[in-house]
Amino acid sequence: MAKLLYEGKAKNVYETDKADELLMVYKDQATAFNGKKKEILPGKGVLNCQISVLVFDYLIKNGIKTHLIKTLSDHEQLVKKSDVFPLEVVVRNIASGSLVKKFHVENGMKLREPIVEFYYKSDALDDPFINDSQVHALKIADKEEINYIKEQALKINQLLIPFFAESDFDLVDFKLEFGKVAGEIVLVDEFSPDNCRLWDKRSHHSMDKDVFRKHEGDLVKTYQEVLERLTNH
Ligand code: TMP
Ligand code: ASP
Repeated sequence: MAKLLYEGKAKNVYETDKADELLMVYKDQATAFNGKKKEILPGKGVLNCQISVLVFDYLIKNGIKTHLIKTLSDHEQLVKKSDVFPLEVVVRNIASGSLVKKFHVENGMKLREPIVEFYYKSDALDDPFINDSQVHALKIADKEEINYIKEQALKINQLLIPFFAESDFDLVDFKLEFGKVAGEIVLVDEFSPDNCRLWDKRSHHSMDKDVFRKHEGDLVKTYQEVLERLTNH
């Protein structure tokens, strides 16, 4: 049995027989508010994995470097081992979530330009906001790495806005993670409705984890519809 390296809220990561490759297994668990709300939702892991495969394949085709080696099954991926920056890189196009809470702006307000924000990944600290100068001074990433990560995040945003628009979604905001493989910074983790906000273009209804966070609907049915719309396009 492969050794469990890391138990996450939505995925487990296992060692493989190659030192530089890891196995990422998507779980049927949904959490919110730093794990304070937690449920087992059968089918969620497969849906997130399949949605993430579609997004990563599209990004790779468009020149974005990622950790993905190959998808092994409907809920398992082989990835390159990387030194993950302990940062959540959030990109926003439309005001929602914590931005609305913080600044009391209107939910749904189109931003003048996309925002990139960093949060320091720490469950114990509840992922606090961290600015560029803190990231540099605390030796989390140097200035060149910070600039590259921001540039990649914005490039990914410009690729994903039309990708989701073709399936009638507005890409409101999302969270990315980056890691280093042999000196190169690559996109890691996943891209699924767990870590983005997708609004139906016409109704503006949430089609992402907000349905779970706010008890607005059935998460598995919602993610199923996201996958169907992306696949049928
Ligand atoms: P926020 O509005 O709560 O700051 O979230 C911004 C985006 O980041 C949203 O698409 C959800 C995603 N996100 C995560 O993926 N993980 C998290 O822990 C949090 C708080 C947000
Ligand atoms: N990712 C965090 C959690 O799982 C917070 C969230 O997505 O709301 O608890």
